[in-house]
Amino acid sequence: MSSTAVPIILDCDPGHDDAIAILLALGSPSIDLLGVTTTFGNCSLADATRNALQVLTLGGATHVPVGQGASGPLAGTAELGNYVHGVSGLDGPAMPAPACDVDERGAVQLMADLLSGSAVPVTLVATGPITNVAALIQDRPDVLPRVREIVFMGGSTERGNHSPYAEFNTYSDPEALEVVLSAGLPVTMVGLNLTHQALATPDVVAAMRALPHEVGRIASEWMGFFGSSYSRVWNFDAPPVHDPCAVFQLIEPEAVRCVDAFVAVETAGTWTRGATAVDLFHRWGRDANARVAVELDVESYWSTVLAALDVVGGA
Ligand code: BDR
Ligand code: CA
Repeated sequence: MSSTAVPIILDCDPGHDDAIAILLALGSPSIDLLGVTTTFGNCSLADATRNALQVLTLGGATHVPVGQGASGPLAGTAELGNYVHGVSGLDGPAMPAPACDVDERGAVQLMADLLSGSAVPVTLVATGPITNVAALIQDRPDVLPRVREIVFMGGSTERGNHSPYAEFNTYSDPEALEVVLSAGLPVTMVGLNLTHQALATPDVVAAMRALPHEVGRIASEWMGFFGSSYSRVWNFDAPPVHDPCAVFQLIEPEAVRCVDAFVAVETAGTWTRGATAVDLFHRWGRDANARVAVELDVESYWSTVLAALDVVGGA
């Protein structure tokens, strides 16, 4: 890892695409993965935590601390994403038993300790419901000056997936996203409008499978399970691999075009709870509160993801 690597904490709910995001961070010399924190979302909190430990074990990164976070949203009850990610949250190939244990400090304390212990400000990357980050903002204002940026996968400039207008992560805890958007911290939104460009086509999956190690085989089999869910639920020909996009735009900023915009999240809509309202044309005259990812260099994305998988698998 280079001395100028971007330090990040990855807050996630693995999940097939979260798992690829973890491996992308591990295999990228320009990223320093300080810690992983887990949340409910694609599966229960306990399953997400076990999956994170297994992915880190697969990646040979048992030194990365894993802090367990929220088991449900700030308001209401959780609707889990097992209908996409399977019973375990990471169904498909058999995984190694975890060779590391959960960090007893829990997600918020772990994030606070990593933020205050880092020589340079740290980027928080959230790829699940953003409840843990909201809890950090509410409970630990003392460490917020150590946050360089919050990058979240969620929302959309267009329509949703979990409901017609709401993307799964923002639907799962809109009140938490409202806390994050109002905190006055730099925020980047990587929504479905961007991640639906990141399709794991048959060529991409074949390239994963051709990598000469377990990591390539397992990643390709994850895509098989994830792809069958996307075909069944949304009629996609190939699955969009959302979460690594949030890490990728830190690795190759010029490969993800972003625009500044005002972003709000619907917390009270009758049919639109959890939808993001992204004012791309400045119709409301409000100051921008986020950078919004709009265009992906797809070739660069997959070559970076594949190279990272190969680094992790070959280590
Ligand atoms: C998001 O929901 C989950 O299924 C994925 O892991 C991703 O974070 C996409 O809407
Ligand atoms: Ca996720």
